[in-house]
Amino acid sequence: MTEKTNQSWGGRFSESTDAFVAEFTASVNFDQRMYLEDIAGSEAHCKMLVKQKILSEADGAAILQGLAQIREEINNGKFEWSVALEDVHMNIEQRLTALIGDAGKRLHTGRSRNDQVATDIRLYVRAQIDRITAEILRMQKGIVELADREVMTLMPGFTHLQTAQPISFAHHLLAWYEMTKRDFSRFQDCRRRLNYSPLGAAALAGTTYPTDREYSAELLGFDGVCKNSLDAVSDRDFAIEFNAAAAILAMHLSRIAEELVLWNSAPFSFIDLPDRFCTGSSIMPQKKNPDVPELVRGKTGRVFGNLFSLLTLMKSQPLAYNKDNQEDKEPLFDTIDTTLGCLRAFADMLPHLKPRRENMARAALQGYSTATDLADYLVRKGVAFRDGHEIVGKAVALAINKNCGLEELKLTDFQELSAQIEEDVYQVLTLEGSVNARNHIGGTAPAQIKIRIEEARAEINAAA
Ligand code: ARG
Repeated sequence: MTEKTNQSWGGRFSESTDAFVAEFTASVNFDQRMYLEDIAGSEAHCKMLVKQKILSEADGAAILQGLAQIREEINNGKFEWSVALEDVHMNIEQRLTALIGDAGKRLHTGRSRNDQVATDIRLYVRAQIDRITAEILRMQKGIVELADREVMTLMPGFTHLQTAQPISFAHHLLAWYEMTKRDFSRFQDCRRRLNYSPLGAAALAGTTYPTDREYSAELLGFDGVCKNSLDAVSDRDFAIEFNAAAAILAMHLSRIAEELVLWNSAPFSFIDLPDRFCTGSSIMPQKKNPDVPELVRGKTGRVFGNLFSLLTLMKSQPLAYNKDNQEDKEPLFDTIDTTLGCLRAFADMLPHLKPRRENMARAALQGYSTATDLADYLVRKGVAFRDGHEIVGKAVALAINKNCGLEELKLTDFQELSAQIEEDVYQVLTLEGSVNARNHIGGTAPAQIKIRIEEARAEINAAA
């Protein structure tokens, strides 16, 4: 009786469990996006097998033709993906065999899904790095062109979000350029390090066939082969490194986003974002919400989270391949999609950002931003910097008392604080005088900014 009950229960359970486990262990729903790389990897492997006479010319030709047809089918949405076939690799291989018969079954000679998937991901990430770096350059181009129009636009520079010193708006924009320039080179570094072929490492130990791994690597545009078969199939450093570069970029974009949100707010009113990048409120008719920068800021969390997912995934994994590794794809792909989306949004939006130049200048004047210039002026007149600092502090206090700007204080007011102050003080108290005086590499003087804009243009062109 017990046996029978168990059997009936076991029968039902084993059937439904099988279906669930098939779903649970399958990756085809997300790894199918690597089909181009999977096919390219198979083509290179096939050509290598033929060259090495492991596979006949006829079989090789049939395989290449079949793979080309499959690529067409998938490109045209005519391919039927099956969860029962687990992943992109088995789906394509099965279809190949259905198309060309036994030759299809010979393609997997001398390789394993372990080196196959490792190859696919590297190729995929490499291609995405190229898209991402191209988008970074497009965004930078927009930033630099905007900067070129705003060299003479003066605004308050901040520390502690308190008005600090006047700067050119272009100088602020070019800071974004420098930040993203480092991001660009981080992705390039990552690309250089990942561009080695795991193909031919097979399951973990290599293969008994006389393969030529360097040949297939070359066909795939790799710079060489991974030198240890265990490492080749189990290494996901490149995915982590890629995600780390993306996380730093996302952090930068979130800082830019935050500034855009602040500047677009009514109390600041430094910029206007184009309407098409904003939305309204269903209840407050006056609102124009900076959704795009807000979302870019918000999406940072995913990219950071994905980095942590990948690190945690790989932590403590024994060599070589483990099924855990299948979990590398969703965080990686999400990071790719998120990064490309954020870059696209900013590349499209930033060139159309409208500065409100008078508001920026007014804010710079209101915050006593030329106080340091006054201190420097006193130093030039022979006053020690610390004493100058003290005198200027008093001048600011006086201006606050009189509810006016430093430049509106009378000469007699100044001279009560320091006999060294003369009529020429008013030149250094202007915003223009302040920025023009910072005329050295990296400083905010318009003369320097113009030089940097030219350099940036050349750097962007050289990188493209
Ligand atoms: N779908 C698998 C993955 O993404 C492919 C490799 C499977 N290898 C294995 N030994 N089960 O990791």
